[in-house]
Amino acid sequence: MKKIILDVDPGIDDSLAILLAAKSDLNIVGITVASGNVEVNQGSINAIKALEIAGRDIPVYKGAELPLVRDYVDATDTHGPDGLSGMNYKVKGKANDGAIDFILDTIKENPNEVTICALGPLTNLALAIEKDIETMRKVGRIVVMGGAAKIHGNCSPVAEYNFWVDPHAAKRFFKANLPNVTVAGLDVTYDILFSPNMREMVKQFGGEVAQYVYDITQFYVDFHWEQERTLGCIINDPLLVSYLIDESIMKAYPCNIDVETEDLCIGESVVGFDVPSDFDGDYPINAKMCMEVDKVKFFDVFFKTIFPEHVADYELMKKKGYILK
Ligand code: BDR
Ligand code: CA
Repeated sequence: MKKIILDVDPGIDDSLAILLAAKSDLNIVGITVASGNVEVNQGSINAIKALEIAGRDIPVYKGAELPLVRDYVDATDTHGPDGLSGMNYKVKGKANDGAIDFILDTIKENPNEVTICALGPLTNLALAIEKDIETMRKVGRIVVMGGAAKIHGNCSPVAEYNFWVDPHAAKRFFKANLPNVTVAGLDVTYDILFSPNMREMVKQFGGEVAQYVYDITQFYVDFHWEQERTLGCIINDPLLVSYLIDESIMKAYPCNIDVETEDLCIGESVVGFDVPSDFDGDYPINAKMCMEVDKVKFFDVFFKTIFPEHVADYELMKKKGYILK
């Protein structure tokens, strides 16, 4: 079974992604953390918490503390002071150092067989590329949450957070032209609304996992209301994990992706589909970008995997029209 590394910056939606992955049949061999939504030490505690909630013992490795070049800007305004709605969880486990070496060693031991699921800034992957690009070329597959092709950003009119917080890492990543890269950005994740009814349903499920999902989403819900008068919250990162479970959830199109690193458009993903050939190969196909998503299929996977004991309740809530149209 393919070995999967989750590269994350937990963060509320990263934590839901870890929970989904850890409760699924995916073969998660390790979790690497970079500073993003919160700084790497707090992010590592949050990753361990999600694993402990899922009842899984998977190693967590700390990686980059800062973006490659630009000043670090966390997203505690969105995710809460600790990245998890201020719950300030204590954990039993401890994170290891050495995220970059863990990524490279895992690929060396399993050439063309490792999938990386990157859900935060691309700093760890950029550092791995800098250290040993030949090994990184032997990765089997990379799926990335980031960017926005035909939709406005969430940090500026054009920039999505993961690319905006470390645009130099994102640029290096795409310039490396690694094999088998698929990107899902805001074009598809904006559809993944964890609605108030879904959240209430989870609360009614009861139990530790449900309480955790309910509690950690509170700050996110408040932020979405304050920011854009959205009821509920957009949960970006689990969508990428669901795609590894069921590829029919999204449709991806070949493209060239580059990332702006300066000035007004800093962090913008410049995505070229069907680039004319007379551009002399300046825009090689270096990724596939997801542009369509089946949100009903996503939520089926999300709820049935995280709450297998409540599949019948979930189906009933759907049938009664409380959740999903
Ligand atoms: C991305 O930024 C982070 O805040 C989320 O965890 C997600 O990975 C969305 O722009
Ligand atoms: Ca993230």
